[in-house]
Amino acid sequence: MLGSESEQVATLYDSPEGQLGPILFGGHLHWGYWDENNADDNFAAAADKLAQIMIDKTQIREGQRFIDLGCGVGQPAMKLAKAKGCSVDGITISKFQQQSATSRAQAEGMQDKLRFIHGSALDIPNEDQAYDGGWFFESIFHMGHRDALLEANRVLKPGATLVLTDLPTLPTTTEEFKAFVQQHIHSSFIAKEDYPALMAETGFELVGIDDITENVMPWLVPKLKETLAEHKQEITELFNDAADKAIDDWVYLFEYMSENLGYMVVTARKL
Ligand SMILES: C[S@@+](CC[C@H](N)C(=O)[O-])C[C@H]1O[C@@H](n2cnc3c(N)ncnc32)[C@H](O)[C@@H]1O
Repeated sequence: MLGSESEQVATLYDSPEGQLGPILFGGHLHWGYWDENNADDNFAAAADKLAQIMIDKTQIREGQRFIDLGCGVGQPAMKLAKAKGCSVDGITISKFQQQSATSRAQAEGMQDKLRFIHGSALDIPNEDQAYDGGWFFESIFHMGHRDALLEANRVLKPGATLVLTDLPTLPTTTEEFKAFVQQHIHSSFIAKEDYPALMAETGFELVGIDDITENVMPWLVPKLKETLAEHKQEITELFNDAADKAIDDWVYLFEYMSENLGYMVVTARKL
């Protein structure tokens, strides 16, 4: 039985809005990384670059088991399994995503390496210390940081590396913004400064925090607008008469988030 918060997240990602994300971002459901070397990259290419940055942070090796906590439609898991030769279990609260990820893995002939579970990362259906590594890739703020880290700790082996991306609040983040994102995207964000204590309390050694705000946030809105224009046809098919409103809502949300949040990659080791 899912809690009502988790049910709301599942409804969000099963909805047309939730289904649009992977169409816009090349199967990824996270933001992108841009710098002077890839300034021309579209959203999908930059999302793929951020996935590569995450892959490079993992210490996972061939034959080992990895858990992707909040796996979307499976593109990051597939890229990781191909790059490292590990097997990946992905868990998502969205039935649509679990089905889509499973079909993608089958289409690539990777069903022996990839398994997608419909369930909650707060109650993982697996035994203690089952995995050699894991990540939360733009997902932990939907789950409640402390509970999500405690459950990740339970299923990871001692010494396993955990990587996550998070969107930290800034000194200027407004209370109005926090209420808006709680209501509309069922997310609560914390500050970078909260991480050392949080990791210590949940049984992890904090290895490092890379603040990549400047590589993500200023690029978001212009790149999103380009992508929305390129995908107008698919958006119209998903939303019919409500397509223009859907586009306006996405732009509004991205503007509001890029003004109020940073972006960081956190690396930790299970004690
Ligand atoms: C922004 S998407 C990121 C998806 C994926 N990690 C990626 O980078 O493409 C957030 C993901 O978190 C998942 N999620 C949120 N709360 C969850 C929970 N309690 N248990 C499992 N998955 C959850 C959503 O279903 C969605 O797949």
